[in-house]
Amino acid sequence: MKRRDALKIGAFGLAATAIPAVASSSYEGLNPYSKYRDKVINRNRYSMSEKPTKSELKHTPEIKIGSKDAKGYTLVEITIGQKGILHPSSDAHWIDFIELKADGKLIDRVLFEPGKSMGYAAFKVKLDGVKSLTAVEGCNLHGIWEHTVKI
Ligand SMILES: [Fe+2]
Repeated sequence: MKRRDALKIGAFGLAATAIPAVASSSYEGLNPYSKYRDKVINRNRYSMSEKPTKSELKHTPEIKIGSKDAKGYTLVEITIGQKGILHPSSDAHWIDFIELKADGKLIDRVLFEPGKSMGYAAFKVKLDGVKSLTAVEGCNLHGIWEHTVKI
């Protein structure tokens, strides 16, 4: 290969590596917070009372701890809504995120598009030594709700 050809390839390679940096702004559309920012209007925190209303039941996450697999990961399912009163999902009113925390520390977060799916997320996590799990959810209209279970 002549030196001139090597320089051409080198220049093309440089341009190719520059493309992802230029195109990275298109990934903003994957984050519902940037795409639907105007529809997420309530970020206040709420909690379920001792005699919960239907709205409180509908917004409080339910945590279901499943079995541990052979590699030590336990299935943790989070459904938004208690006692079978599930939160709706529409373009105007939906669960925009669900988080799972272990002993108060964030494990992971799932972001949701409006009206595409119900408020449900499942995680496979290692729970060795963990004393509590907390699920946190955001409803775009009715704010942030959480529920903690001791394990
Ligand atoms: Fe809601």
